[in-house]
Amino acid sequence: MIFITHSGEETQSLGTRLGRLLGPGDIVLLFGDLGAGKTTLTQGMARGMGVNPDEYVRSPTFTLINEYRGNFPIYHIDLYRLDSLAEIENIGLEETLLGCGVSIVEWAEKLIQNPGEAPALGITRRIEVEISDLGENERRLEIRPMEMDAQSHPIFSLQ
Ligand SMILES: Nc1ncnc2c1ncn2[C@@H]1O[C@H](COP(=O)(O)OP(=O)(O)O)[C@@H](O)[C@H]1O
Ligand SMILES: [Mg+2]
Repeated sequence: MIFITHSGEETQSLGTRLGRLLGPGDIVLLFGDLGAGKTTLTQGMARGMGVNPDEYVRSPTFTLINEYRGNFPIYHIDLYRLDSLAEIENIGLEETLLGCGVSIVEWAEKLIQNPGEAPALGITRRIEVEISDLGENERRLEIRPMEMDAQSHPIFSLQ
């Protein structure tokens, strides 16, 4: 599924539509450079999952993980500051990822050791979102449900 947005607001509302289709146990992996719009999309997803619009969703770059309460727990993770897979494995994310919340991971590139390989930490079923900056406020968002059967997840109804 490919979407083009033309402003941060448009990316946020796509995030909100996406967030409404997420549920406990879902893992969303966000790929894209600095300033691509990963946090902007996450802000929208949080709204779509019932997080109070007044709550400020920002990059957990220094805290590594922020937790929000929506209709269920939402874990917003940012791997930017972590360099090696060993470091990532050491912070004990597995528990969070396997728990009954929704996990959203910025800089998911850091979970992929070799191109085309599955992500680390035992992640299988997931929704990948790759955001590319096309310039002039234009962003391309490719949303890929992975290891999921069509019809097995509401995400397939996103349009
Ligand atoms: N089409 C667009 N989609 C997303 N962000 C956009 C778009 N156009 C401009 N922007 C701006 O780009 C910035 C993206 O920042 P952010 O979401 O923090 O990126 P990241 O978390 O990927 O580093 C925001 O300031 C946002 O307003
Ligand atoms: Mg960010």
